[in-house]
Amino acid sequence: MGVSAFSTACRGGFNRLQEFRDVWLLMIMKQKQVHIVTMGCQMNVYDSEQMLRHLASLNYRPTSRLDQADLILLNTCSIREKAEHKVYSFLGRLVRMKRLRPDIIIGVGGCVAQQEGYHLVERAPHIDIVFGTFALGRIASLVQQVEDQKKQIVDIDPRGMSEPLYVKEPVFKAERPTAFVTVMQGCDNFCTYCVVPYVRGRETSRKHEEILEEVRLLVENGIREVTLIGQNVNAYGQKKGHGCNFPALLERVNGIEGLRRIRFTTSHPKDMSDGLIDAFCRLDKLAPHIHLPVQSGSDRVLRRMKRGYVRDFYLKKVAKLRKVRPDVAITSDIIVGFPGEDTVDFEATVDLVRQVGFDNFFLFKYSDRPNTPAARFSNKVPEPVKRERFSTLLDIQGALTTKKNKALVGTTQEVLVEGPGKRSPDQLTGRTPCNRIVNFVDGMTRIGQIIPVRVVQAFSHSLLGHPVGKGHGRNPGENGGMSYAA
Ligand code: 5AD
Ligand code: SF4
Repeated sequence: MGVSAFSTACRGGFNRLQEFRDVWLLMIMKQKQVHIVTMGCQMNVYDSEQMLRHLASLNYRPTSRLDQADLILLNTCSIREKAEHKVYSFLGRLVRMKRLRPDIIIGVGGCVAQQEGYHLVERAPHIDIVFGTFALGRIASLVQQVEDQKKQIVDIDPRGMSEPLYVKEPVFKAERPTAFVTVMQGCDNFCTYCVVPYVRGRETSRKHEEILEEVRLLVENGIREVTLIGQNVNAYGQKKGHGCNFPALLERVNGIEGLRRIRFTTSHPKDMSDGLIDAFCRLDKLAPHIHLPVQSGSDRVLRRMKRGYVRDFYLKKVAKLRKVRPDVAITSDIIVGFPGEDTVDFEATVDLVRQVGFDNFFLFKYSDRPNTPAARFSNKVPEPVKRERFSTLLDIQGALTTKKNKALVGTTQEVLVEGPGKRSPDQLTGRTPCNRIVNFVDGMTRIGQIIPVRVVQAFSHSLLGHPVGKGHGRNPGENGGMSYAA
């Protein structure tokens, strides 16, 4: 037997050994499925994605089918009472499933878990894991413990910040060209109605190097637009020794090759610096849209909310923004029925909404949140009054939004194509720089491209358009089309 024949024989044996090892590994590491239900804000969407990555180390793959999952996780939100009710009603639906399949593992994580802790397992004993906002990074080890020891675990230890949620590997193939990237978490503002500082803890900013690395990786994987998220991104890097504030971070992200658009949310008006306002005219990738929650138009209510600004301050910020970027879209959050809000206060909010002319807003009826000062305030506004104010303001903004959308008919917008539309198989949907949804039909365009679309019709929540431009759609590789969508 010559040397080469011998080594081939050895290699053959080695390959068979390797095959045997792979089959054996597959057998002992059964591929398991996890279904995550995400409630609440974009921060939770990001956290759920990171949890999936952590769980990949235990051989869990995501499934959209609840009935096929071995592990069901709820990533919860407690910002308003309604969001919390949703958690309990969903858990109620799982009682029967757990009875029929006692081996499935049910975990409740995030803000409600942090807030309720042991109460959750008392109210819903079929839960296996309660993991608070600080335990999200420990999810894989918690699941492993339940798998091995079949015990119930409550982890609401607030000292878990040392374990970062962000994991580099494995990167799941992107289905859309847009992604959220958390840049900071927590909040030091303690607005009197808000539970966030209690469930998310103090403001902590991620290192800019890690954020940049994450964005670069996303771009390599086909992402064209990132939204930098945090409870108050304007506070990014403000703590001593951090060395990079939010405008500086934006500038660095703007320099990443292949990235086409940057968005961010949420901004606190009191922390909106001139540097950030200037970024809207300096940075070519920064989309002209800002979400700037005002909460109320009444100085008296703003003071009782402990927002740290007055109405006039907010209006001046808006004016400055529009001066540097006249096409900027401004959206907001507003609460109606804050304790003690009278008709004069409410009229001041209506007046501010008309004066600013928001592109859109999220409107909320005030609800008491545990531990917050406002929960102990007297002069609670009766529910029917809240409802009436809610619908009055919604009608006013609805008309304003439709009018703004109609003004876009006949214009051509640069649309980042995000995915299939809902109406027909060849319909696509995307967003304008100002964050308006545009639906259009075009058999040749690919997800991830930015294409000019002429707006032909406007509705209250979206626009309808036709792609324009010479040769458009003939070469899907042009204009930043994504290879994964081929
Ligand atoms: N009641 C109603 N709305 C609230 N928000 C926060 N806390 C409450 C509460 N207790 C709203 C604010 C905030 C948005 C995310 O949720 O408008 O900006
Ligand atoms: Fe809540 Fe106020 Fe912080 Fe926003 S700024 S997260 S409303 S406490």
